[in-house]
Amino acid sequence: MSSNDNSSNAYSDFHLQFIGGEWQKGKDDSINTDTNPYNGDTIVEIQQATKDQLDEAYDAADQAQAKWAKTTPAERAAVMYKVVNILDQRQDEIVDWLIKESGSTRIKAMVEFSSARAITLEAASFPNRVHGEIRPSNTPGKENFIYREPIGVVAVISPWNFPLHLTQRSIAPALALGNAVVLKPASDTPVTGGLLLAKVFEEAGLPKGLLNVVVGSGSEIGDAIVEHKAPSLVSFTGSTSVGKHIGELANGGEYIKQVALELGGNSPFVVLKDADIEQAVKAAAFGKFLHQGQICIAINRVIVEDEIYDDFVERFLAHVKTLNVGDPNKQDTAVGPIINEKQLKSLKEKIAKAQEEGAKMILSGEIEGQVVPPHIFTEVTREMDLSCNEVFGPLVGIIRAKDEDDALSIANDSMYGLSSAVFTADMQKGLRFARGIRAGMTHINDISVNDESNTPFGGEKNSGIGRFNGEWVLEEFTRTHWISMQNEPRQYPF
Ligand code: TAP
Repeated sequence: MSSNDNSSNAYSDFHLQFIGGEWQKGKDDSINTDTNPYNGDTIVEIQQATKDQLDEAYDAADQAQAKWAKTTPAERAAVMYKVVNILDQRQDEIVDWLIKESGSTRIKAMVEFSSARAITLEAASFPNRVHGEIRPSNTPGKENFIYREPIGVVAVISPWNFPLHLTQRSIAPALALGNAVVLKPASDTPVTGGLLLAKVFEEAGLPKGLLNVVVGSGSEIGDAIVEHKAPSLVSFTGSTSVGKHIGELANGGEYIKQVALELGGNSPFVVLKDADIEQAVKAAAFGKFLHQGQICIAINRVIVEDEIYDDFVERFLAHVKTLNVGDPNKQDTAVGPIINEKQLKSLKEKIAKAQEEGAKMILSGEIEGQVVPPHIFTEVTREMDLSCNEVFGPLVGIIRAKDEDDALSIANDSMYGLSSAVFTADMQKGLRFARGIRAGMTHINDISVNDESNTPFGGEKNSGIGRFNGEWVLEEFTRTHWISMQNEPRQYPF
């Protein structure tokens, strides 16, 4: 079936929770009204889950996981391949959901769809890639075996900006490796961040109870998700403030558990004086304004060497003025709506603060509904709010660096360390510069927005702990078990 044949069998009933393999009504009094951020239309109303329903989800996950862990690698891989097939068949339906629920432009929705598909395909290889070790022993007659086992039940809390991918990036590896999942999607994207994927895994034949989707507000049930006895790992993607709170709960409560934290960023994009300016300008525009800048690895600080600063600014301004702003459904829209009122308010405050602090606003425009046109600020210094904090919107500050050393010092002057980028004509210089950056990821002559299913994705400092993708997530979502075998009687001192 092609991706266009699905209008008649499109998924429905997104007003329900998915617990223990059954679609059931939430039992809380509160309702999540899922709205389209571009036109404000109500998409679906979901009665939220109670803590009792969360317990039910954890019980179901716990029970299902034991059996799932005993399945063959081929059985688990087969489910992942089926998921990939279903994603392909339903590509148009999924892309439409991303546009209407998360305000994704068509371009971003396609990028996100491809990333979610790629990690599912990668996860299909995980069951056969898990392996143990045999280590020598200093004790006569002993053999040391190191087993890698499923970690058990994984709690996944995901954000609204790349809801499909950032959820799938945790749940596909977790399930492929023999774990069960209880997922709480962000309240702004309960469908693309959770319920839609539950439908896909259900259609792929994933046994009941292994994937549970609990829709509820983070402030209401978030702590209970983390503190519950059942999960051995909490995989959280979102803000640094909530991530810190989750880290404290996971390590300071009754039950200690592992955490994978993928938090905020403040990616520097450095343009050195020998760079191809035209290419750097196009990269800066795409890496900054894709998804309205609401990406943890989006370019947050553009740092340009003094000699080419004015030239870069002039060409960047001219290029950004050509971007289409507005309806995300239109094929050629580059900048769509901001996710919600709260984020919009914080962006308006940032625009005002940048001006108060003395930055020069060289491009602005009228905010219509939740659509904020690109705003460009020059003569930004490293001390200003635009430089120090994550922006998460289509605003960008351009900082002047005296020379290469100064550019590196500015790039590293951040409490975050997620992604980064440097543009130069000299690859050796680029490599040296890249290795000087304290971040989990650096891209030479490309944007900071890169995510490949077989390379380690993650950050340092306040950007989090742990790595996604490839063998790095394989380690993250399994546990190590040393088992020794004493093959002859050991001589004890007493
Ligand atoms: P967060 O509040 O961190 O939301 C992320 C997820 O955490 C959502 O599912 C949220 O649920 C949940 N959550 C909230 N409070 C919780 C708690 N006490 N315990 C457990 N889970 C909880 O992010 P946001 O408010 O949506 O966005 C604000 C900022 O976060 C942005 O400006 C940006 O800096 C950052 N952010 C970063 C990323 C990435 S990829 N690093 C993604 C999105 C946002 P509810 O939706 O129900 O509150």
